[in-house]
Amino acid sequence: MAVVGLGDVSVVHLAAIEKLGATLVGVCDSRGDYRALLDEVRPDVVHICTPHDQHVPVALAALERGVHVLMEKPVAHTLEEADRLVAAVKDHPALKVGVCLQNRYNLTSQALFEFLRSGEMGAVRGGSASVLWHRDAAYYAARRWRGQRRRSGGGVLINQAIHTLDLLQWLLGEVTSVRGHAGRYGGVAGGGSVDVEDTAHMVLDHADGTRSVFFATTTNAVDSPVTIEIVTERATLLVRGDLTVTYTDGRAETIAELAPDGGGRAYWGASHELLIADFYRSLDDPAPFWIGPQEALKAQHLIDEIYHH
Ligand SMILES: NC(=O)c1ccc[n+]([C@@H]2O[C@H](COP(=O)([O-])OP(=O)(O)OC[C@H]3O[C@@H](n4cnc5c(N)ncnc54)[C@H](O)[C@@H]3O)[C@@H](O)[C@H]2O)c1
Repeated sequence: MAVVGLGDVSVVHLAAIEKLGATLVGVCDSRGDYRALLDEVRPDVVHICTPHDQHVPVALAALERGVHVLMEKPVAHTLEEADRLVAAVKDHPALKVGVCLQNRYNLTSQALFEFLRSGEMGAVRGGSASVLWHRDAAYYAARRWRGQRRRSGGGVLINQAIHTLDLLQWLLGEVTSVRGHAGRYGGVAGGGSVDVEDTAHMVLDHADGTRSVFFATTTNAVDSPVTIEIVTERATLLVRGDLTVTYTDGRAETIAELAPDGGGRAYWGASHELLIADFYRSLDDPAPFWIGPQEALKAQHLIDEIYHH
């Protein structure tokens, strides 16, 4: 394995590589040349942990060299850039490309998915989700790209809430219509100027007629647990850390989430390692990895709709 981009999130990737018993053959940050790294060490897989505008260039260089790609979210800072990767993936069908939407591997997400698919909850009446987090001046000052739309593509939606938006569309089905707004409502706590949005709301209509509503902000006083609530004919399923299922007859059950074990920040969850392990396993499998660029772009298309329409 090789890792390109040695900032905050790389710590989680490096820890997973070691824990899974894979061999790290090279790393490269912005003072190095990722093309030279790929040529010299010829890894099987490159983990891409760079800022959003530096995902696709590294991925294309890897595919050209026959290297599998595991990239951080989002696919790219713009849809045009993402489409360059989608085209390249078609030209390299033997290579795997995975995107780190690791929250699909949360125990609570997997349990929700199974409950809804099993039919035992009855028809879905609707869903809602919230991401109420705190990102202050220090967060943006530490890495300027995070507050620069031309490099990040945006703020709370594309950077933080994309995971939860992806879960909503994965759990409740394809979104046929999205309306909402994103803006700079709160500013940056502690000062400093950024040109990315800090708050957004959305109403999503899913293909089967279900509606979900969504709210995200980085202006909250603290990092509150993400919530996802799905109401069905027979139960209310609420994720807030753990998953609590409360049945209409009064019974309740709880499915506990895995606790992060030191490598990551609590709000990133513990699921990176699960996704990375699954990606490595998929290398022996002829089918594409299930969270490839096109799958990951479903949530990004919704975000783009809010940004540009
Ligand atoms: N999945 C998650 O939960 C999660 C959590 C945090 C961050 N992320 C994502 O991870 C990515 C990185 O975020 P971060 O917070 O670690 O950023 P960061 O700024 O801390 O780290 C990025 C690193 O990439 C390096 N870099 C920039 N351009 C490069 C290039 N061309 N070649 C090599 N290195 C280059 C920078 O010098 C920096 O060290 C982003 O896409 C972010 O959205 C995902």
